Amino acid sequence: MKKTVITYGTFDILHVGHINLLRRARELGDRLVVGLSSDEFNQGKHKSSLLNYENRKAVLESIRWVDEVFPEHNWEQKIGDIKKYGADIFVMGHDWEGKFDFLSEFCRVHYLPRTEDISTTEIKRSLSVVVKDAANERS
Ligand code: CTP
Repeated sequence: MKKTVITYGTFDILHVGHINLLRRARELGDRLVVGLSSDEFNQGKHKSSLLNYENRKAVLESIRWVDEVFPEHNWEQKIGDIKKYGADIFVMGHDWEGKFDFLSEFCRVHYLPRTEDISTTEIKRSLSVVVKDAANERS
């Protein structure tokens, strides 16, 4: 029986932490489906992404570990998604440890270690420093 793995995220400004997470998630099964936070859902979480949904989706779909990408519109849809995609394993990075244990009624729940010292937030912060430094040099 083929195993389906499901995971969720915003995956903005894709970085090696995302790639490691996606690779490890895919290695737990035979198919990886990714719930990608919609722009509206992100706004509701007060989280803005640099790339819009269509761009983030195109990037994710080009990754060899990703089989399918679908929109995540709200917090409540996960049980329905697990049933719809026949997911056997739900995976998130360990920053979410314990938060989704309630899904273990429907499939295995697994938290993977985060890759250290990198995040989209950190990349945005570094970029803003570079931009400010460049502006200061010009003035
Ligand atoms: N992730 C990871 N290692 C990192 C960064 C993210 O394993 N260094 C994982 C998260 O735990 C999550 C998935 O990648 O399961 C998508 O995370 P996302 O929130 O989109 O990425 P972040 O880089 O954490 O973004 P932000 O800084 O905006 O929270």
